[in-house]
Amino acid sequence: MKLIFLIPLLALVNGENVAVCKASTDCASCSESYIHVFGFKENCRWCVESQTCGGPLSCPFGKPVVQRESFRCPVKFPTTKGKRYTDRLGRSLFAVALSVRDANATECLLNSRPDINHVKTYEVECDQSHNMCSGLLAVSEEAKAIYVAYKGHSLDKQLFTEFVHSLVAQLGAWEKFENGTGVITYFHQAWNRLFIDGGMKKDLMEMKKKFPNYRIWLTGHSLGGSLASMTALHLVVNKLVEPSRVRLVTFGEPRTGNVAFAKAIENNIEFRYRIVKRNDFVTNIPGSLDPNGLMVTNAVFDRQPLFYRFLVHYDNNMEKNDGYKICEMSDDHGCRNLALAADFNDHITYFGIKHDEFLAQRCKKDLLI
Ligand SMILES: *[C@@H]1O[C@H](CO)[C@@H](O)[C@H](O)[C@H]1NC(C)=O
Ligand SMILES: *[C@@H]1O[C@H](CO)[C@@H](O)[C@H](O)[C@H]1NC(C)=O
Repeated sequence: MKLIFLIPLLALVNGENVAVCKASTDCASCSESYIHVFGFKENCRWCVESQTCGGPLSCPFGKPVVQRESFRCPVKFPTTKGKRYTDRLGRSLFAVALSVRDANATECLLNSRPDINHVKTYEVECDQSHNMCSGLLAVSEEAKAIYVAYKGHSLDKQLFTEFVHSLVAQLGAWEKFENGTGVITYFHQAWNRLFIDGGMKKDLMEMKKKFPNYRIWLTGHSLGGSLASMTALHLVVNKLVEPSRVRLVTFGEPRTGNVAFAKAIENNIEFRYRIVKRNDFVTNIPGSLDPNGLMVTNAVFDRQPLFYRFLVHYDNNMEKNDGYKICEMSDDHGCRNLALAADFNDHITYFGIKHDEFLAQRCKKDLLI
Protein backbone atom coordinates (compact mmCIF):
# COMPACT_ATOMS: atom_id res chain seq x y z
CA MET A 1 0.00 0.00 0.00
CA LYS A 2 2.69 2.39 1.07
CA LEU A 3 4.78 1.71 -2.03
CA ILE A 4 1.96 2.47 -4.42
CA PHE A 5 1.56 5.80 -2.71
CA LEU A 6 5.26 6.60 -2.84
CA ILE A 7 5.88 6.13 -6.51
CA PRO A 8 3.86 9.04 -7.88
CA LEU A 9 5.20 11.34 -5.20
CA LEU A 10 8.79 10.60 -6.10
CA ALA A 11 8.04 10.93 -9.75
CA LEU A 12 7.05 14.54 -9.42
CA VAL A 13 10.35 15.71 -8.03
CA ASN A 14 13.22 16.94 -10.10
CA GLY A 15 15.64 19.77 -9.47
CA GLU A 16 17.86 20.37 -6.49
CA ASN A 17 17.70 19.26 -2.87
CA VAL A 18 18.00 22.15 -0.40
CA ALA A 19 17.99 22.30 3.41
CA VAL A 20 15.34 25.02 3.62
CA CYS A 21 13.28 26.58 0.85
CA LYS A 22 13.89 30.04 2.28
CA ALA A 23 17.47 29.79 1.05
CA SER A 24 16.27 30.47 -2.50
CA THR A 25 15.78 34.11 -3.29
CA ASP A 26 14.60 33.98 -6.89
CA CYS A 27 11.76 32.20 -8.62
CA ALA A 28 13.91 30.07 -10.93
CA SER A 29 16.02 28.44 -8.21
CA CYS A 30 13.11 28.21 -5.76
CA SER A 31 10.82 26.46 -8.19
CA GLU A 32 13.43 23.86 -9.07
CA SER A 33 14.32 23.07 -5.44
CA TYR A 34 12.83 20.65 -2.96
CA ILE A 35 13.14 19.71 0.68
CA HIS A 36 12.54 16.55 2.67
CA VAL A 37 9.51 16.47 4.91
CA PHE A 38 9.12 13.27 6.97
CA GLY A 39 11.08 11.42 4.32
CA PHE A 40 8.98 12.77 1.45
CA LYS A 41 10.35 15.09 -1.13
CA GLU A 42 8.37 18.32 -1.26
CA ASN A 43 8.75 21.06 -3.85
CA CYS A 44 9.59 24.54 -2.72
CA ARG A 45 7.01 27.16 -3.68
CA TRP A 46 7.66 30.63 -5.00
CA CYS A 47 4.97 33.00 -3.74
CA VAL A 48 4.78 35.44 -6.63
CA GLU A 49 3.31 38.44 -4.82
CA SER A 50 5.56 38.42 -1.77
CA GLN A 51 8.57 37.19 -3.83
CA THR A 52 9.49 34.64 -1.19
CA CYS A 53 10.32 30.96 -1.28
CA GLY A 54 8.77 28.51 1.14
CA GLY A 55 7.66 24.96 1.72
CA PRO A 56 4.18 23.49 1.35
CA LEU A 57 1.39 25.80 2.55
CA SER A 58 3.72 28.78 2.71
CA CYS A 59 1.98 30.86 0.03
CA PRO A 60 -1.37 32.56 0.69
CA PHE A 61 -4.28 30.56 -0.68
CA GLY A 62 -5.64 31.73 -4.02
CA LYS A 63 -2.57 33.76 -4.91
CA PRO A 64 -0.17 32.93 -7.75
CA VAL A 65 2.41 30.27 -6.91
CA VAL A 66 5.19 28.72 -8.96
CA GLN A 67 6.64 25.29 -8.26
CA ARG A 68 8.46 22.48 -10.07
CA GLU A 69 9.43 24.32 -13.22
CA SER A 70 11.18 27.63 -13.78
CA PHE A 71 9.39 28.02 -17.10
CA ARG A 72 6.37 28.97 -15.07
CA CYS A 73 8.08 31.87 -13.32
CA PRO A 74 6.74 35.31 -14.22
CA VAL A 75 8.22 36.86 -17.37
CA LYS A 76 8.14 40.61 -17.99
CA PHE A 77 6.12 41.67 -20.99
CA PRO A 78 7.69 44.06 -23.50
CA THR A 79 7.03 47.75 -22.99
CA THR A 80 9.19 49.28 -25.70
CA LYS A 81 7.68 50.85 -28.77
CA GLY A 82 7.26 48.35 -31.57
CA LYS A 83 7.14 45.43 -29.15
CA ARG A 84 4.40 46.37 -26.77
CA TYR A 85 0.68 45.78 -27.03
CA THR A 86 -1.62 48.76 -27.31
CA ASP A 87 -5.39 48.92 -27.48
CA ARG A 88 -5.14 50.66 -30.83
CA LEU A 89 -3.01 47.87 -32.23
CA GLY A 90 -5.54 45.33 -30.97
CA ARG A 91 -8.42 47.17 -32.62
CA SER A 92 -6.76 47.61 -35.97
CA LEU A 93 -5.80 43.94 -36.09
CA PHE A 94 -9.22 42.85 -34.98
CA ALA A 95 -10.57 44.59 -38.07
CA VAL A 96 -8.42 42.23 -40.13
CA ALA A 97 -9.49 39.19 -38.10
CA LEU A 98 -13.17 40.06 -38.60
CA SER A 99 -12.83 40.76 -42.31
CA VAL A 100 -12.25 37.04 -42.91
CA ARG A 101 -15.86 36.47 -41.95
CA ASP A 102 -17.20 38.99 -44.40
CA ALA A 103 -18.62 37.88 -47.74
CA ASN A 104 -16.59 40.63 -49.36
CA ALA A 105 -13.34 40.90 -47.43
CA THR A 106 -11.96 43.37 -49.94
CA GLU A 107 -14.71 45.81 -49.20
CA CYS A 108 -14.66 45.16 -45.47
CA LEU A 109 -10.95 45.95 -45.30
CA LEU A 110 -11.34 48.95 -47.57
CA ASN A 111 -13.80 50.41 -45.07
CA SER A 112 -12.02 49.52 -41.85
CA ARG A 113 -8.33 49.47 -42.83
CA PRO A 114 -8.02 51.39 -46.11
CA ASP A 115 -4.24 50.90 -46.13
CA ILE A 116 -4.68 47.14 -46.52
CA ASN A 117 -5.17 45.38 -49.83
CA HIS A 118 -6.94 42.07 -49.69
CA VAL A 119 -4.97 39.54 -51.74
CA LYS A 120 -6.89 36.29 -51.53
CA THR A 121 -9.32 34.34 -49.38
CA TYR A 122 -9.04 30.58 -48.89
CA GLU A 123 -11.84 28.34 -47.77
CA VAL A 124 -11.86 24.61 -47.05
CA GLU A 125 -14.00 22.09 -45.22
CA CYS A 126 -12.16 21.79 -41.97
CA ASP A 127 -13.85 18.70 -40.58
CA GLN A 128 -16.06 15.73 -41.37
CA SER A 129 -19.18 17.72 -40.47
CA HIS A 130 -18.60 20.04 -43.43
CA ASN A 131 -17.83 23.08 -41.31
CA MET A 132 -15.90 25.61 -43.32
CA CYS A 133 -12.66 27.23 -42.19
CA SER A 134 -11.17 30.15 -43.99
CA GLY A 135 -8.19 32.40 -44.07
CA LEU A 136 -6.94 35.35 -46.05
CA LEU A 137 -3.75 36.99 -47.13
CA ALA A 138 -3.49 40.76 -47.33
CA VAL A 139 -0.80 43.38 -47.54
CA SER A 140 -0.22 46.97 -46.50
CA GLU A 141 2.58 48.86 -48.20
CA GLU A 142 2.07 51.73 -45.80
CA ALA A 143 2.55 49.51 -42.74
CA LYS A 144 5.11 47.32 -44.53
CA ALA A 145 3.09 44.36 -43.42
CA ILE A 146 1.74 41.09 -44.73
CA TYR A 147 -1.37 39.81 -42.95
CA VAL A 148 -2.42 36.21 -42.46
CA ALA A 149 -5.85 36.04 -40.82
CA TYR A 150 -8.09 33.10 -40.02
CA LYS A 151 -11.61 32.37 -39.00
CA GLY A 152 -12.80 29.22 -37.35
CA HIS A 153 -16.17 27.68 -38.06
CA SER A 154 -19.70 28.60 -36.97
CA LEU A 155 -20.17 30.44 -33.72
CA ASP A 156 -23.65 29.16 -33.05
CA LYS A 157 -23.69 28.40 -29.36
CA GLN A 158 -25.26 24.96 -29.57
CA LEU A 159 -22.90 23.74 -32.24
CA PHE A 160 -19.99 25.27 -30.52
CA THR A 161 -20.74 23.59 -27.24
CA GLU A 162 -20.99 20.21 -28.93
CA PHE A 163 -17.77 20.92 -30.68
CA VAL A 164 -16.04 21.76 -27.42
CA HIS A 165 -17.23 18.53 -25.86
CA SER A 166 -15.69 16.61 -28.71
CA LEU A 167 -12.40 18.43 -28.18
CA VAL A 168 -12.34 17.70 -24.50
CA ALA A 169 -13.15 14.05 -25.09
CA GLN A 170 -9.96 13.54 -27.05
CA LEU A 171 -7.73 15.41 -24.63
CA GLY A 172 -4.48 13.76 -23.77
CA ALA A 173 -4.18 12.47 -27.32
CA TRP A 174 -2.19 15.39 -28.67
CA GLU A 175 -1.52 15.47 -32.37
CA LYS A 176 2.19 15.90 -33.09
CA PHE A 177 3.03 19.33 -34.42
CA GLU A 178 6.30 21.18 -34.95
CA ASN A 179 9.34 20.21 -32.93
CA GLY A 180 7.85 17.76 -30.50
CA THR A 181 4.88 19.89 -29.56
CA GLY A 182 1.29 18.69 -29.44
CA VAL A 183 -1.89 20.40 -30.59
CA ILE A 184 -5.54 19.45 -30.59
CA THR A 185 -6.22 17.04 -33.43
CA TYR A 186 -9.05 19.14 -34.76
CA PHE A 187 -6.84 22.20 -35.17
CA HIS A 188 -4.08 20.15 -36.70
CA GLN A 189 -6.36 18.85 -39.39
CA ALA A 190 -7.98 22.22 -40.10
CA TRP A 191 -4.59 23.91 -40.30
CA ASN A 192 -3.21 21.30 -42.69
CA ARG A 193 -6.22 21.51 -44.95
CA LEU A 194 -6.24 25.27 -45.03
CA PHE A 195 -2.69 26.49 -44.76
CA ILE A 196 -0.78 23.64 -46.40
CA ASP A 197 -3.17 21.88 -48.79
CA GLY A 198 -5.31 24.96 -49.38
CA GLY A 199 -2.37 26.80 -50.93
CA MET A 200 -2.04 29.60 -48.37
CA LYS A 201 1.51 28.69 -47.49
CA LYS A 202 2.66 28.63 -51.10
CA ASP A 203 1.12 32.04 -51.81
CA LEU A 204 2.45 33.49 -48.57
CA MET A 205 5.97 32.43 -49.51
CA GLU A 206 5.54 34.15 -52.89
CA MET A 207 4.40 37.33 -51.15
CA LYS A 208 7.36 37.15 -48.85
CA LYS A 209 9.67 37.06 -51.86
CA LYS A 210 7.97 40.13 -53.23
CA PHE A 211 8.07 42.01 -49.91
CA PRO A 212 11.11 40.52 -48.16
CA ASN A 213 11.37 43.17 -45.47
CA TYR A 214 7.76 43.23 -44.41
CA ARG A 215 6.56 41.99 -41.07
CA ILE A 216 4.17 39.09 -41.02
CA TRP A 217 1.13 39.57 -38.82
CA LEU A 218 -0.78 36.47 -37.82
CA THR A 219 -4.19 36.90 -36.37
CA GLY A 220 -7.58 35.32 -35.91
CA HIS A 221 -10.57 35.16 -33.63
CA SER A 222 -11.60 32.02 -31.73
CA LEU A 223 -10.45 28.88 -33.55
CA GLY A 224 -8.89 31.23 -36.05
CA GLY A 225 -6.54 32.29 -33.25
CA SER A 226 -5.39 28.69 -32.89
CA LEU A 227 -4.64 28.47 -36.59
CA ALA A 228 -2.70 31.73 -36.37
CA SER A 229 -0.52 30.56 -33.49
CA MET A 230 0.21 27.27 -35.24
CA THR A 231 1.16 29.14 -38.40
CA ALA A 232 3.52 31.39 -36.45
CA LEU A 233 5.30 28.41 -34.94
CA HIS A 234 5.49 26.61 -38.28
CA LEU A 235 7.04 29.61 -40.03
CA VAL A 236 9.69 30.17 -37.39
CA VAL A 237 10.66 26.59 -36.55
CA ASN A 238 11.09 25.81 -40.24
CA LYS A 239 13.08 29.00 -40.75
CA LEU A 240 10.69 30.27 -43.39
CA VAL A 241 10.51 33.69 -41.76
CA GLU A 242 12.96 35.44 -39.47
CA PRO A 243 11.56 35.35 -35.93
CA SER A 244 12.00 39.11 -35.56
CA ARG A 245 9.48 39.71 -38.34
CA VAL A 246 6.71 37.60 -36.85
CA ARG A 247 3.81 39.24 -35.00
CA LEU A 248 1.22 37.00 -33.40
CA VAL A 249 -1.95 38.56 -31.96
CA THR A 250 -5.03 36.42 -31.36
CA PHE A 251 -8.50 37.13 -29.98
CA GLY A 252 -10.52 34.69 -27.91
CA GLU A 253 -8.17 31.81 -28.72
CA PRO A 254 -8.83 28.47 -27.02
CA ARG A 255 -5.97 26.51 -25.46
CA THR A 256 -4.51 25.27 -28.73
CA GLY A 257 -1.73 22.96 -27.60
CA ASN A 258 0.04 21.26 -24.73
CA VAL A 259 2.78 22.52 -22.44
CA ALA A 260 5.46 21.83 -25.06
CA PHE A 261 3.50 23.90 -27.58
CA ALA A 262 3.25 26.85 -25.19
CA LYS A 263 6.97 26.61 -24.47
CA ALA A 264 7.84 26.44 -28.16
CA ILE A 265 5.74 29.51 -28.92
CA GLU A 266 7.41 31.41 -26.12
CA ASN A 267 10.89 30.30 -27.17
CA ASN A 268 10.42 31.07 -30.84
CA ILE A 269 8.07 34.01 -31.11
CA GLU A 270 8.94 37.13 -29.25
CA PHE A 271 5.95 39.21 -30.26
CA ARG A 272 2.89 37.30 -29.10
CA TYR A 273 -0.28 38.46 -27.42
CA ARG A 274 -3.52 36.67 -26.94
CA ILE A 275 -6.33 39.03 -26.22
CA VAL A 276 -9.08 37.84 -23.90
CA LYS A 277 -12.31 39.60 -23.14
CA ARG A 278 -13.46 39.30 -19.54
CA ASN A 279 -15.06 35.86 -19.05
CA ASP A 280 -14.93 34.58 -22.64
CA PHE A 281 -15.58 30.86 -22.19
CA VAL A 282 -13.75 29.79 -25.34
CA THR A 283 -10.47 30.99 -23.86
CA ASN A 284 -10.93 28.52 -21.02
CA ILE A 285 -11.29 25.43 -23.18
CA PRO A 286 -10.12 22.78 -23.17
CA GLY A 287 -9.95 23.06 -19.38
CA SER A 288 -6.61 22.80 -17.65
CA LEU A 289 -5.85 21.73 -14.11
CA ASP A 290 -4.43 24.23 -11.67
CA PRO A 291 -0.75 23.22 -11.81
CA ASN A 292 -0.51 23.69 -8.05
CA GLY A 293 -3.25 21.19 -7.34
CA LEU A 294 -2.34 18.30 -5.08
CA MET A 295 -2.58 15.56 -7.68
CA VAL A 296 -0.83 17.40 -10.49
CA THR A 297 2.52 15.71 -10.98
CA ASN A 298 5.03 16.81 -13.61
CA ALA A 299 3.84 14.07 -15.92
CA VAL A 300 0.23 15.18 -15.53
CA PHE A 301 1.16 18.83 -15.95
CA ASP A 302 2.97 18.16 -19.23
CA ARG A 303 -0.19 16.67 -20.72
CA GLN A 304 -2.31 19.69 -19.86
CA PRO A 305 -3.42 22.22 -22.43
CA LEU A 306 -1.54 25.42 -21.73
CA PHE A 307 -1.65 28.96 -23.01
CA TYR A 308 1.43 30.83 -24.04
CA ARG A 309 2.20 34.25 -22.70
CA PHE A 310 1.21 37.04 -22.93
CA LEU A 311 -2.40 37.12 -21.91
CA VAL A 312 -3.91 40.59 -22.41
CA HIS A 313 -6.97 40.53 -20.23
CA TYR A 314 -9.71 43.12 -20.58
CA ASP A 315 -11.84 42.68 -17.48
CA ASN A 316 -14.55 44.97 -18.89
CA ASN A 317 -16.64 45.59 -22.01
CA MET A 318 -13.63 46.58 -24.09
CA GLU A 319 -15.12 49.96 -24.91
CA LYS A 320 -12.71 52.56 -26.28
CA ASN A 321 -10.37 53.69 -23.48
CA ASP A 322 -11.12 50.69 -21.27
CA GLY A 323 -8.03 49.35 -19.55
CA TYR A 324 -6.44 45.92 -19.68
CA LYS A 325 -3.94 43.91 -17.73
CA ILE A 326 -1.05 41.93 -19.20
CA CYS A 327 -0.25 38.81 -17.25
CA GLU A 328 3.29 37.61 -16.62
CA MET A 329 2.40 34.11 -15.44
CA SER A 330 2.62 31.14 -17.81
CA ASP A 331 -0.83 29.85 -17.05
CA ASP A 332 -4.12 31.57 -16.50
CA HIS A 333 -4.69 30.31 -12.99
CA GLY A 334 -2.50 33.02 -11.56
CA CYS A 335 -4.01 35.75 -13.77
CA ARG A 336 -7.76 35.68 -13.69
CA ASN A 337 -10.61 33.89 -12.05
CA LEU A 338 -11.17 30.95 -14.37
CA ALA A 339 -14.24 29.88 -12.43
CA LEU A 340 -15.99 32.86 -14.04
CA ALA A 341 -14.73 32.19 -17.56
CA ALA A 342 -17.99 30.74 -18.87
CA ASP A 343 -19.61 33.55 -20.84
CA PHE A 344 -20.47 32.99 -24.50
CA ASN A 345 -21.54 36.57 -25.08
CA ASP A 346 -18.08 37.83 -24.16
CA HIS A 347 -16.72 35.68 -26.97
CA ILE A 348 -18.69 37.45 -29.67
CA THR A 349 -18.43 41.06 -28.50
CA TYR A 350 -14.72 41.89 -28.51
CA PHE A 351 -13.87 45.60 -28.43
CA GLY A 352 -17.39 46.50 -27.45
CA ILE A 353 -18.95 45.62 -30.81
CA LYS A 354 -21.24 42.78 -31.80
CA HIS A 355 -19.15 41.15 -34.49
CA ASP A 356 -22.09 40.37 -36.77
CA GLU A 357 -23.37 43.92 -36.54
CA PHE A 358 -19.98 45.28 -37.44
CA LEU A 359 -20.04 43.21 -40.61
CA ALA A 360 -23.67 44.14 -41.33
CA GLN A 361 -22.65 47.79 -41.12
CA ARG A 362 -20.00 47.11 -43.74
CA CYS A 363 -17.06 47.20 -41.33
CA LYS A 364 -17.34 50.91 -40.68
CA LYS A 365 -14.06 52.07 -39.25
CA ASP A 366 -15.47 54.37 -36.56
CA LEU A 367 -17.27 51.49 -34.92
CA LEU A 368 -14.00 49.82 -34.05
CA ILE A 369 -10.88 51.89 -34.47
C1 LIG B 1 -16.47 43.63 -53.23
O1 LIG B 1 -16.39 45.00 -52.94
C2 LIG B 1 -15.62 45.74 -53.88
C3 LIG B 1 -15.46 47.16 -53.34
O2 LIG B 1 -16.65 47.69 -52.89
C4 LIG B 1 -16.31 45.69 -55.22
O3 LIG B 1 -15.57 46.41 -56.18
C5 LIG B 1 -16.43 44.23 -55.64
O4 LIG B 1 -17.18 44.13 -56.85
C6 LIG B 1 -17.13 43.41 -54.57
N1 LIG B 1 -17.02 42.01 -54.92
C7 LIG B 1 -18.07 41.22 -54.93
C8 LIG B 1 -17.82 39.80 -55.31
O5 LIG B 1 -19.20 41.61 -54.63
C1 LIG C 1 13.50 22.02 -31.85
O1 LIG C 1 13.79 21.04 -30.89
C2 LIG C 1 15.15 20.72 -30.78
C3 LIG C 1 15.29 19.55 -29.84
O2 LIG C 1 14.30 19.55 -28.88
C4 LIG C 1 15.92 21.94 -30.30
O3 LIG C 1 17.29 21.66 -30.18
C5 LIG C 1 15.71 23.04 -31.31
O4 LIG C 1 16.35 24.21 -30.85
C6 LIG C 1 14.25 23.29 -31.51
N1 LIG C 1 14.12 24.23 -32.57
C7 LIG C 1 13.45 25.34 -32.41
C8 LIG C 1 13.44 26.23 -33.59
O5 LIG C 1 12.91 25.61 -31.36
